[in-house]
Amino acid sequence: MTPKHDLITQALQVRQQAHVPYSHFSVGAALQTTSGQVFTGCNVENASYGLTICAERGAVMKAVSEGARDFEAIAVVSENGVTPCGACRQVLAEFNLELRVIVADLEGNSRAYRLSELLPQAFLPDHL
Ligand code: THU
Repeated sequence: MTPKHDLITQALQVRQQAHVPYSHFSVGAALQTTSGQVFTGCNVENASYGLTICAERGAVMKAVSEGARDFEAIAVVSENGVTPCGACRQVLAEFNLELRVIVADLEGNSRAYRLSELLPQAFLPDHL
């Protein structure tokens, strides 16, 4: 498994690509598979605000479109170390409710959760 700090470093790097002319709140995400592949994503905003895609969902779309879906961990870096939004939690839960979610800020503080802690009583594929 990629060490935690390496995943955070990759999220920090891709955060520089964020397209955030409206919120000025850049986010980077690095999503790691069980085989060690890492897919990154940044938030991409739009003049039609509701079309904004979060960094985490960008990373998931990249990974799935490349045939990867066995996710083990995601690092999310923002200026203040926010946890993923509700929509991103739901999208991540589709693949692994026990995903390790590492959040980090720009001062080097980080904290890790299980996705199941962040999305209790989740609606999951096996409910259908
Ligand atoms: N955002 C993310 O990319 N990920 C999160 O976990 C929280 C929110 C983005 C969406 C928007 O571009 C900006 O942060 C402010 O909401």
